[in-house]
Amino acid sequence: MSESGRGASRTAVLVCQGRAAANGRAAPGQFADPVAVRLLRAEERRPVDEVRANTPPSGWRERTGYESVRACAEVVVPRTVAIDEALRARLTDQLVILGAGLDTRAWRLPELARTDVWEVDHPASQQDKRARLAEAASEPGGPDERDRPAEGPTAVARSVRFTSVDFAVDDLGTALDAAGHDPSSPTTWLWEGVVPYLTRAEVRATVGALAARTVPGSALVVNYQAPSARAKAGRLLTRVLGSSVTAGEPWRSLWKPERMAALLAEYGLRVMSDDSLLALAHTLGAPAEERSSLRSGRVAVAESR
Ligand SMILES: C[S@@+](CC[C@H](N)C(=O)[O-])C[C@H]1O[C@@H](n2cnc3c(N)ncnc32)[C@H](O)[C@@H]1O
Repeated sequence: MSESGRGASRTAVLVCQGRAAANGRAAPGQFADPVAVRLLRAEERRPVDEVRANTPPSGWRERTGYESVRACAEVVVPRTVAIDEALRARLTDQLVILGAGLDTRAWRLPELARTDVWEVDHPASQQDKRARLAEAASEPGGPDERDRPAEGPTAVARSVRFTSVDFAVDDLGTALDAAGHDPSSPTTWLWEGVVPYLTRAEVRATVGALAARTVPGSALVVNYQAPSARAKAGRLLTRVLGSSVTAGEPWRSLWKPERMAALLAEYGLRVMSDDSLLALAHTLGAPAEERSSLRSGRVAVAESR
């Protein structure tokens, strides 16, 4: 537990497991995240390996873990591909990743070579990520590389600056000032998989804080969840079935696309595209199950002009 009494995000681990499970398996040539598995601990890699091998375990609890990782893999593939493409198309010298969790972009996107990255996250989650990076640095590179000196994932971004912020309590602007972010220079903002965990007031306050540091030429890529009775029921069912992953991280705000667009417009950000994950999955040509989380998950790109 962190000083604020809250543990590191478990959903951040789940989405990392989803990316690790999908690496080399889903949407080849469009999706790849070879770094994700390196941020996972041995017990977290087990369901990933099972999903990759398509061998569901027999125990009920194990099976629930397996199904969560499998479902998550389906969701994170279109989400990651869409976001990576949006970032590549709107690169600036500064990329701020809000609620970064176990995001691997600073370690896997060579296009970030001339970009400074700020990874903003809750202190407990950030501490956990840094511990995982250190652990990855002290393990052999892989089964065929046992004799090689230990080496952690190497950042490919120009720099990575870890910035602790609890969106419910802290002032984002003050934290970014202290971390050397330049508000007068264009910034690409990424906010993936975080909005549902914040209240409407916290979402509004965060948009206000980032907009205050957003000059023309900047962009915001935001992934959020639209209201859906089926997705809500599915999440409830997972909790009832005993998934401890989502238990401590309830959804607090869902946004209709028009409400999200209106909020961003209030702060000078114009939505250029806003697609459901299901539509994005179809563009990948992969057969996507009609999961409600794919239907209600969205990626919007907004620009400041
Ligand atoms: C589902 S994870 C997504 C992580 C990452 N963006 C990704 O897509 O892989 C949710 C993230 O939101 C962060 N988060 C949730 N509430 C937060 C808060 N009040 N302040 C800061 N970060 C928060 C968690 O720490 C976690 O890293």
